Amino acid sequence: MCRHLAYLGPPVALGQILVSPPHSLVRQSWEPRRQRYGTVNADGFGVGWYAEGDPVPGRYRRQGPVWGDETFADLVRVVRSTALLAAVRDATVAGADGEAAAAPFAADGLLFSHNGAVQGWPASLAPLATTLPAAALLTLEARSDSALLWALVRRRTSEGDTLSQAVTDTVLDVAAQAAGSRLNLLLTDGSTIVATAWGDTLWYLTEPGRRTVVASEPYDDDPLWREVPDRTLLTATRHDMTLTPLKEPPRESLPTDPHPAGGRDGRGATRRRAQRHEPAAQVAAPKWFYDAHGSELFEEITRLPEYYPTRAEREILVSRAARIAQVSGARTLVELGSGSSEKTRHLLDALPGLRTYVPVDVSESALKGAADLLLAERPDLSVHALIADFTHVLRLPETPGPRLVAFLGGTIGNLLPEERERFLHSVRELLSPGDSLLLGTDLVKDEATLVAAYDDAAGVTAAFNKNVLSVVNRELGADFPLDDFDHVAVWDPRREWIEMRLRARRALTVKIPEVDLVVTFAAGEEMRTEVSAKFREEGVRGELVDAGLRLEHWWTDAAGRFALSLATAF
Ligand code: SAH
Ligand code: AVI
Repeated sequence: MCRHLAYLGPPVALGQILVSPPHSLVRQSWEPRRQRYGTVNADGFGVGWYAEGDPVPGRYRRQGPVWGDETFADLVRVVRSTALLAAVRDATVAGADGEAAAAPFAADGLLFSHNGAVQGWPASLAPLATTLPAAALLTLEARSDSALLWALVRRRTSEGDTLSQAVTDTVLDVAAQAAGSRLNLLLTDGSTIVATAWGDTLWYLTEPGRRTVVASEPYDDDPLWREVPDRTLLTATRHDMTLTPLKEPPRESLPTDPHPAGGRDGRGATRRRAQRHEPAAQVAAPKWFYDAHGSELFEEITRLPEYYPTRAEREILVSRAARIAQVSGARTLVELGSGSSEKTRHLLDALPGLRTYVPVDVSESALKGAADLLLAERPDLSVHALIADFTHVLRLPETPGPRLVAFLGGTIGNLLPEERERFLHSVRELLSPGDSLLLGTDLVKDEATLVAAYDDAAGVTAAFNKNVLSVVNRELGADFPLDDFDHVAVWDPRREWIEMRLRARRALTVKIPEVDLVVTFAAGEEMRTEVSAKFREEGVRGELVDAGLRLEHWWTDAAGRFALSLATAF
């Protein structure tokens, strides 16, 4: 019974989400495809949305079926938002509450909806209801199980619980009191969506950095839709998505004091860690590839006949090093994601005034190898090797200016668009007047060349890709069976990036204890492990400008495969 949906993403007319898709929420009100209980959702509907600059969402709710409401159709055609929550309702018990019982419920800048039913309502929840302050009971939005659930969630958020914690604890408390309840809750504050799959269907669609939709069922046939396993908490923003298994609580009688000494966590058995932020759409951040073995494999990749970026970038460096030296006048070279620093030698040799080199990398082994070699070869150069994550705020050593910050290899393409934007802003912060940025970007080209570069005949890229599973096994105690996954490289022409994926050869279940996750794979199911975005000059120029950087020079290799940009701050 009931269908609900929440959206975070670029501005859309509400109707684009709620009406236009082939299996939209409006259609689901009379023809749901995956509803497990009830048939028609005609007992009210509602939508809440956030308008720019106002943390308090607006709402439109009505008592009858959504398909008969012309005002709704008119409104959602033109109202636009970046965050919304909507529901169509199939009432469990007829009531006189009318539109007051239609979700979304709203308060304190939050929107809430419940898809399901509380077993044994209302008697089963009487003990929990008495834990609420009288004011909360007197201001219940309606006399329904959903309205009481909302009051329970709201009490927790108003006491400072995170949205995830409030929803988790409410579901576990209610399930303990009223076993057999269906408790698919959906809550948003306009930037985070929290939802539970507990007894009914729940799906999500995510393009990290762009949009996230969480819905009782898919509203179209986009292959990116994924079903959330039952007994799971989902926490999502536009950037990431977390799925946390929830454990069925033992049936318990509620303590009379809802906050017993020792805190709520004292009732341990039902508590699970709910706040985790691992992107579900991509299992690994770029840095997870570069343990010592991964760094060696990458070096091997750079020598493969199919992997042209390293050779193309070296060609540009060799031909433009003198010009880069002249324009930058650098006395300090900071290199982010420096790896073996192999290509960087062309720069180091060409910069006459260079005093200091600061290679920055997460790979301790690569950094140490590079620094040892350089110290032996260039006793005149002071080398400060910095083991650090370049996506975090960097504290660079005090070194003489002007500075040249280099980010080579096309590694910027391994960041997702939102990460890239944040990263470029933080690079801008590192630059003082007179400093410059040297950025390497691989360029959009024909699909065959691109795919071959990421799926080489010798299988080195496949080994590099699978190595990420070894790192996750070691670091997070997971049990990914490496031999049960195949390497896949695909070109996404819309996002203009290569996706490396791993495809399960058979149905399997993997435990990742350190993050409380159990992941199931169907045979043939793929997970994305890395993106490698390819660029065009105008795109690079635009992203630099957005970060406060001006593109001064754009150089490519003779075949036009790769580009080096030299930019300054404005
Ligand atoms: N610049 C070299 C190496 C590229 S490989 C070249 O062009 O050949 C990418 C490098 O970035 C690896 O050495 C890896 O360890 C490093 N790296 C990836 N993510 C990182 C992060 N978040 N912080 C710091 N280094 C990172
Ligand atoms: C480091 N980075 C630029 C490489 C790339 O081409 O995206 C990583 C890589 N992944 C597979 N092969 C190489």
